[in-house]
Amino acid sequence: MSSSKPWQPDSWRQYPSMQQPRYENEAALDAVLADVKAMPPLVFVGEVERLKQQLAKAGAGESFILQGGDCAERFQDCNREAITQKLKIMLQMSVVLCYGLRKPIIRIGRIAGQYAKPRSADTETINGEVIPVYRGDIINSFESSIEARRPDPQRIKQAYFHSIATLNYIRALTKGGFADLHHPQSWDLKFVSNAPKKAEYERIMSNIQDAIVFMESLGSREEKLGSVEFYTSHEGLLLPLEQAMTQYVPEYGGYYNLGAHTLWIGDRTRQLDGAHIEYFRGIGNPLGLKVGPSSDPRTIIAICEVLNPKREPGKITLISRYGNGKAASHLPQLIEAMRGIPVVWSIDPMHGNAAKTESGIKTRNFDDILGEVRETLTIHKNAGSKVGGIHFEMTGDDVTECIGGSAGITAEQLANHYETYCDPRLNYSQSLEMAFLVSQMMAPSVI
Ligand code: PEP
Ligand code: CO
Repeated sequence: MSSSKPWQPDSWRQYPSMQQPRYENEAALDAVLADVKAMPPLVFVGEVERLKQQLAKAGAGESFILQGGDCAERFQDCNREAITQKLKIMLQMSVVLCYGLRKPIIRIGRIAGQYAKPRSADTETINGEVIPVYRGDIINSFESSIEARRPDPQRIKQAYFHSIATLNYIRALTKGGFADLHHPQSWDLKFVSNAPKKAEYERIMSNIQDAIVFMESLGSREEKLGSVEFYTSHEGLLLPLEQAMTQYVPEYGGYYNLGAHTLWIGDRTRQLDGAHIEYFRGIGNPLGLKVGPSSDPRTIIAICEVLNPKREPGKITLISRYGNGKAASHLPQLIEAMRGIPVVWSIDPMHGNAAKTESGIKTRNFDDILGEVRETLTIHKNAGSKVGGIHFEMTGDDVTECIGGSAGITAEQLANHYETYCDPRLNYSQSLEMAFLVSQMMAPSVI
């Protein structure tokens, strides 16, 4: 792969591509892609460039990224209630982080397009029958039958309309005054039964409340608090769709993916000579790159050279996901190797911490998630590098998918409200508590 070779939105087709579904009816796929391409984009290029500038600030330690949302969005959750809950928890976490870190927070949802999933196996066995795996609502159905799991190109068009509907409502909420839910009055801390912890969280909340009242009394309330910026992201996995969302923008003299503000490249699809890196090197959006135990620092440098030959600050965010206790044997070497190359460092404490209960339910432990955050922060501190963000799989609903937290979810309780179609998410209380704990760890002084 070379950054000097000619690039086109479809040049990735000449390279080996991982994790792509095989559609039986190519003509139907082409027709859907043509329809989607003819529709309006989801985002405006000015927003994309603005995000890139903000991310550059996160890289310099002047602001902080909160990226979060579902592992896999589902079409059925494209409704008022679910979107409102997701936005509410993101806003509340961002206020806690903003207060604790004393920095502006850049909010990026895994939302309005997070419909395609990479999988570690092509098939699974359900009730004795071997069927293709679920690859996300944009590709096939979660229902467990061979027919339902067949990739259906019409789902790409459905995903486009669900993304549009979701983003439209997010824009209405974030511009229309809903952001007042910043207000700690509407926060729910009932889950904290441990008294000293509860007192501590309540103290932080009341300090935030005071700060907001003080700011409001200074004026320009609507501008500052009634409306907030919120960006969208998803894993750029399904390349035919990403190609269809790509447009040449003459004002900026380049191509952009206008299906999301930023996209990330997953741990399974970042081969230097693969189709994904080829596609992503041609677009102007800021990009995330997942890095984990299998990332060789020399390869990551080479990928960054290809994706960001001009070394634009804010262009690349390296999202580390090693697993609790595993970052220490990999991350210091990567940080050392990356010196002088501008990247934003973000922490995904979710994807290296998959676990299974005795009864075979996929889960994650709150303490492992927190442990990886703590370990990664210490490594960066010792290396003198700046942590610019954090990345969670989470939801605003009271699901029971991850174990632990002050709400004390146990392995036995997981089945009570287990909703995810893919990886387990932090629920409302676990997410809010995580924000309190991360804020305390990262606070410049005691809060
Ligand atoms: C994800 O973020 O949903 C994901 C699949 O992560 P990773 O590529 O790090 O495994
Ligand atoms: Co996931």
